[in-house]
Amino acid sequence: MKRVQYFYFSPTSNTKRVVEGIIKGMGFESAENNLTIIAKNLEEYIVEKDEIAIVGVPVYAGRVPEVILETLKRIKGNGGIAIAVVTYGNRAYDDALLELKDILKGQNFNVIAGGAFVGEHSYTKQVATNRPDKMDEEKAEYFGKKIVAKIEEKDFNEIIVPGNYPYKERKAKSVFSPHGNRRCVYCRHCPGACPVGAIDMRKPDIVDEEKCIHCCACIKVCTFNGRELLDEGVLEKIKWLEENCKERKEPQIFI
Ligand SMILES: Cc1cc2nc3c(=O)[nH]c(=O)nc-3n(C[C@H](O)[C@H](O)[C@H](O)COP(=O)(O)O)c2cc1C
Repeated sequence: MKRVQYFYFSPTSNTKRVVEGIIKGMGFESAENNLTIIAKNLEEYIVEKDEIAIVGVPVYAGRVPEVILETLKRIKGNGGIAIAVVTYGNRAYDDALLELKDILKGQNFNVIAGGAFVGEHSYTKQVATNRPDKMDEEKAEYFGKKIVAKIEEKDFNEIIVPGNYPYKERKAKSVFSPHGNRRCVYCRHCPGACPVGAIDMRKPDIVDEEKCIHCCACIKVCTFNGRELLDEGVLEKIKWLEENCKERKEPQIFI
């Protein structure tokens, strides 16, 4: 058992970086499945029994993002091993890791390891700034090595992770999409970064509010500071995060 198939939904790349750190630690051959652009990932993914799947998603409001649920249900486990990984913005991961583990079990995986890592908050650079950082990367690699040791010992016991039933209730969809500002130079990078195709290619300041999932990929991909969140409600939330989530949280691994 030496091949890893890794899957991630990662609009602002934190989850991708953590998953790749884990694979580096494992030192196994790997195949990438980037699930971020929803419309590009409509096929079935088969993970053979002698392969290992690593599946990573960000935490949205304490849960697995709703937008990725259908895609995750197309990953077929065949009774093999999976590692569940979430990244969160230094507030809390609530029930997301438990939910991801349950989803993977439902896809016929045996979830033998899981991790909750911290990444810079999608809404603001002031919370968990530049994370995952060097220490997080080292922890991810260490986790990868621990996974290999567990497999070599033929310990295929399922992990127990924090979280509650019923899972945290999903929030009603709010409307607060990022919009282009006067610094936008119409370079059109942001429509390509949007997981759900919510940004108009010709006029990127036009956003389909119904489609937008508020992942902030468009803000983070913009090198001109040409997009921002303006909604009063979300600015309040950002202020709350900046005041209350300053204290560094460390990655937690379950193995
Ligand atoms: C809609 C939304 C909801 C979020 N909810 C939470 C949350 O409940 N707790 C938390 O700590 N971070 C939360 N975050 C922050 C992300 O989980 C965090 O920045 C994550 O690392 C982003 O991953 P990515 O770079 O792979 O997209 C949220 C971000 C978004 C866009």
